[in-house]
Amino acid sequence: MQPINLFEYEQLAKQHLSQMALDYYSSGAWDEITLRDNRAAFERIKLRPRMLVDVSDRNLTTSILGQPLELPLLIAPMAFQCLAHPDGEIATATAAASAGVGMILSTLATKTIEEVAAVRQNFPNALQWFQLYIHKDKSLTRALVERAYTAGYKALCLTVDAPVLGQRERDRRNEFSLPLGLHAANLATVSDLDIPHAPGESGLFTYFAQQLNPALTWKDLAWLQSICPLPLVIKGILRGDDAVRAVECGVKAIVVSNHGGRQLDGAIASLDALAEIVAAVDSRAEVLLDGGIRRGTDILKGLALGAKAVLIGRPILWGLAVAGIGGVSHILSLLEHELSLAMALSGCQTLQDIDPSLITPPQG
Ligand code: GLV
Repeated sequence: MQPINLFEYEQLAKQHLSQMALDYYSSGAWDEITLRDNRAAFERIKLRPRMLVDVSDRNLTTSILGQPLELPLLIAPMAFQCLAHPDGEIATATAAASAGVGMILSTLATKTIEEVAAVRQNFPNALQWFQLYIHKDKSLTRALVERAYTAGYKALCLTVDAPVLGQRERDRRNEFSLPLGLHAANLATVSDLDIPHAPGESGLFTYFAQQLNPALTWKDLAWLQSICPLPLVIKGILRGDDAVRAVECGVKAIVVSNHGGRQLDGAIASLDALAEIVAAVDSRAEVLLDGGIRRGTDILKGLALGAKAVLIGRPILWGLAVAGIGGVSHILSLLEHELSLAMALSGCQTLQDIDPSLITPPQG
């Protein structure tokens, strides 16, 4: 039986993944409080639907940094997608492009920057961004950025909430490492780096400690902007003052995110951080949201609170694990149908109709 929602995909995916891969994908940091709260935050928000609006035609299209999208959705950067399916990031990128949603390729992808960019040969308008982790080795970072630019990615999405990796205890128990034959494809081609096997520790945690730059500050944004003309997006902001700082640094879009609950456990749910950031940014940059989105109504809630679009993460991996490209396409079409239905039921013809009045005022 085909799954009919994202939760059913999650259940089914468990039968298709190794325990190590399932744990890696599904884990949050420490007690997974933030992981759970990302979902709970959506359940706390209640809608105030508008009645007697003609909703016979609904328009779900939007644009992000000037690029059109069929729906207000991008696929979040997620590492090592070949753990879910041999086609990995290529399947994800192809499904995203054919659905007209965006895709952000992880620095830690298991397919190369160029292989994923080649998907655009058949979908020239596809929105593809490259997610960047800044390594201690500046020349390695520069090489990744140059490759992304040359390959035609339209923005750099710098993850700022991971100066070190959060501690995911299931990965630590499993001594997470990549199975034989899988590599962090872009690092292997730049510097022969790979995710180590680390006794008593997650190999990825060890990789971050060894290779990523924990000294990164706001000043480094200027360096990044000086080596690459692409618009800069920063992902992992949870406070209004940080968002203002980002805008002042010329950042074009901000992703309100706690990294799927995988970094600082106890951090605020991303949905709960959204309104403060939208107010602080005051339309000077685009604001996107990720963390816990599983239903069309979740997208509606995020947009009502001021996000221009949302990022969807883990469910894409569940779709990939269950049925490769077909699974990812199905996940995207489920979200599209649910969003369209939620808009109809709340009296919205277009995304512009999804305004803050759809949300009940915060309960004291
Ligand atoms: C990598 O970015 C991870 O969160 O595992």
